[in-house]
Amino acid sequence: MTHARKVILDCDPGHDDALAILLAAGNPAIDLLAITTVGGNQTAAKVARNALAVSGIAGLSVPVSAGCQRPMIRELSVAPEIHGDTGLDGPPLPEPRGELDPRHSVDLLIETVMAHEPGEVAIVATGPLSNLALAVRKEPRLTEWVSEVVLMGGSYSRGNWTPAAEFNIWVDAEAAEMVFSAGWQKLTEVGLDVTHQALATPEVRERIRGIGSELSRYVDELLDYFTLSNADHQGFEFPPVHDPVCVAALIDPSVIGTREAFVGVETRGRWTYGMTVTDFDGQLGEAPNAQVAVSLDHGRFWDLVIEGIAALPR
Ligand code: RIB
Ligand code: CA
Repeated sequence: MTHARKVILDCDPGHDDALAILLAAGNPAIDLLAITTVGGNQTAAKVARNALAVSGIAGLSVPVSAGCQRPMIRELSVAPEIHGDTGLDGPPLPEPRGELDPRHSVDLLIETVMAHEPGEVAIVATGPLSNLALAVRKEPRLTEWVSEVVLMGGSYSRGNWTPAAEFNIWVDAEAAEMVFSAGWQKLTEVGLDVTHQALATPEVRERIRGIGSELSRYVDELLDYFTLSNADHQGFEFPPVHDPVCVAALIDPSVIGTREAFVGVETRGRWTYGMTVTDFDGQLGEAPNAQVAVSLDHGRFWDLVIEGIAALPR
């Protein structure tokens, strides 16, 4: 068994972020060091509380922090249409166990990475990129210390929050531009082109119910809500469970296929703010800055998610 990947998860729980936490907690290939949260699906306070609660039911004892309360320039836009007023609407919210780490997410990110050797820690970002942008400005050595950034965001086809932009990028496109241009050792972008294949179909839901634990029942009720909200607001028959794809890709890189590209984030377009302009063919004359996910092995993905949930405290 190779060593587990040391990972920091920066997220905005959010139903699919919650499943990303559970997968990271349940798979032995991931050594989750910290959960940093950022305002996005809901306010910074709500997503921090949610992360603490989900971390508790997952049996984790890692630091959980609150982060940026708003984007770099714009006001925060949350997504109650999808995640509800609490950010984890549907089943009763588990009570948080313990307290938040007193540090801001930017500082927890920096201190956790810099406490390890260069190349030891990977960052998974499944919310707006406000924390990561400020962290790499405050500590530029992050680009040398962090082995890989895997982020859920963007799309080379079309958006989900506007015709051009995906939500995580659209909330804070300036931060996304700072992250995509920072010069990481490796940056993998997992966008809608791939996560729209990670659908919680009735077969998947049956397998999750088949785990038969209190936790799997909670996940099933989360997905009940997520199914209805994605149908009502996004027109999906079955909901795309975006964020765990990033964790699965760290566990087993074969889960996604990628292509190298230059990704430019639009920050000035009247109609295209937040668009991830993806140049696979060098047409813009810019050096590639990302590995962009272009395919998903959704069978392997759901196997990992279900195994991860089944491995957690009953
Ligand atoms: O567009 C989907 C992304 O936005 C997911 O990360 C979801 O949790 C929301 O943050
Ligand atoms: Ca998210």
